[in-house]
Parts: sequence; structure tokens; C-alpha cells
Amino acid sequence: MGTAADLAASVRERGPAVVLTGAGMSTESGIPDFRSATGIWAEVDPFEVASIDAFLRDPLRVWRWYGKRIGGLLAAAPNAGHEALAALERAGHVRAVVTQNIDLLHTRAGSGDVVEVHGSIRRFPCLACGAEESLEAVLAQLETREAPLCPSCGAILKPGVVMFGELLPPAAMERAERLARETRLLLVVGSSLQVWPVAGLPGETLRAGGALAIVNLEETPYDAEAAVLVRGPSGSMLAEVVRLLGLGSLRNDVTASS
Ligand code: APR
Repeated sequence: MGTAADLAASVRERGPAVVLTGAGMSTESGIPDFRSATGIWAEVDPFEVASIDAFLRDPLRVWRWYGKRIGGLLAAAPNAGHEALAALERAGHVRAVVTQNIDLLHTRAGSGDVVEVHGSIRRFPCLACGAEESLEAVLAQLETREAPLCPSCGAILKPGVVMFGELLPPAAMERAERLARETRLLLVVGSSLQVWPVAGLPGETLRAGGALAIVNLEETPYDAEAAVLVRGPSGSMLAEVVRLLGLGSLRNDVTASS
């Protein structure tokens, strides 16, 4: 099993890395992931609350779940793993972060180039007329109603995240595929790599001759093909990589930049 030192060595030799993150990146911020034993899908059926069919069938049911989820995401703060990736980007060791997460924590931690392949809670589109509302406007509406309405046509707005049964934002996915093909190192952090098409990105890197590094608490389908496989928590592992690359400890870095 690999160590943070092996990770730092592969970043030094093969960087700048492209990083692919999943929900495991945010569990140390208090946001549950989806498929581990304590994950969200152990509590609720994704096809009842996170599929486009469910939204079209019963938008209020979806919003009763999503309204609470948005509150939880906004109450969370970036953890040491998010801060480490931002520090690595500033130092030139990370080219971009491709994330499946919709929680905005990479951006809030200071990462500049974040590709949100599953959308985010920044925007809330209206499927009826194409208008769009901001997070702030939606939060204001949620103070007095269960589901936000389109200011133009009155239809119930949809969360700006990719739901099961929906296509991923084409521009984001095309850029993610290009980054995966071009990079010499794809670093996967906190993802079970079970949801396509994002789960196909490590294969793109490997087929193009790049190497794979994985930091994950549980097995993934790509473990056997990883040049470095670290079975450990993303926060401390990535913070250790920052220290080993001589970027100081995160605390100093955050103090310096804050
Ligand atoms: N450090 C490292 N790994 C962790 C940590 C941690 N602190 N916490 C959890 N993990 C691991 C879990 O063991 C699990 O293998 O992160 C992985 C998270 O996997 P999933 O819950 O499947 O999340 P993700 O891969 O992001 O799911 C992809 O599925 O439901 C959809 O749209 C949703 O974007 C999501 C997509």
C-alpha cells in the first residue's frame, strides 16, 4: 500500500497533476458521501430524490430533500484536503481539479481551476422557460416556501446539479476528458469510481500513457492499475504531501494567504 511520500514523489516526478475528486473529499467537512456504509444512499433512494424522473414526477418531494441538503452543504467548511489541493495548485503541482462534488468547497478553499462535471448549487435552472436563478435568490425563496419558483414563468426551479438520467454539462465533461488524456498523472481522491461517464476518466489517462494515483478509504475498480494507491483519509494524506513538497504546513500557508 502506498504512502503520502510515494504520492509526493509521483507529483514531483509526473506533475502538474490533474486531480479527480468525489464525495470522499468532503466527508471530513461533515458532508456524508454516497456509497460507503454511512453514505447518503444507505438512507434514501437516489431515484426518489436525485433523478430527473423523480423531479418531473414530484418536484416538491425532491425539494423537501434538496432544501435540507443545500443547508447542510452551505454549513460545511473546506477541510485540510481542499486547502492542500489549493496550495498545490498555487505552487504549480496541480493543473486543475475535476470534481463530481456540487458543494463548492474546492472553490471556497481557493482552487482556481475547478471543473464541476456534476454541476453545482451555484445555479438553479427553469426547465420550462430556460431562466436561471442564483443560489442567494433561491435561499431567500426557501425561507418562505418548500420549492423556489422561476421568477419569469412561475414553474418550480430545478437544482443546478446533474441528476440521474441527465446528461453531464458537455463543455465540462469535454474539458475533463481532455485534461485526463493530457496529464501524466491523474490523482483520484475520495471517489468509488462507480458512476459513469466520470468513472471512465482514469481509463482515458492510462490509455494515453499517463499514470494513476488513488487516495481512497475503500477499494475502487482501478486500484490494480494505480501506480500509487493510498488507503487513507484525504485530509491528512494531502496535507502531508504539501509538507513533503516543501510548501510548509497548511496552517502557515492559510495564515499567509488569509
Ligand atoms: N478520505 C478518503 N476517502 C474517503 C473519505 C476520506 N475522508 N471518506 C470517504 N471516502 C471514500 C469512500 O470510501 C468511497 O469509496 O470516498 C468514496 C466516495 O464514493 P461515493 O460515495 O460513491 O462518491 P462519489 O464517487 O463521489 O459518487 C459519484 O455518484 O450519487 C452520485 O452524483 C453523485 O457525484 C456523485 C457520484
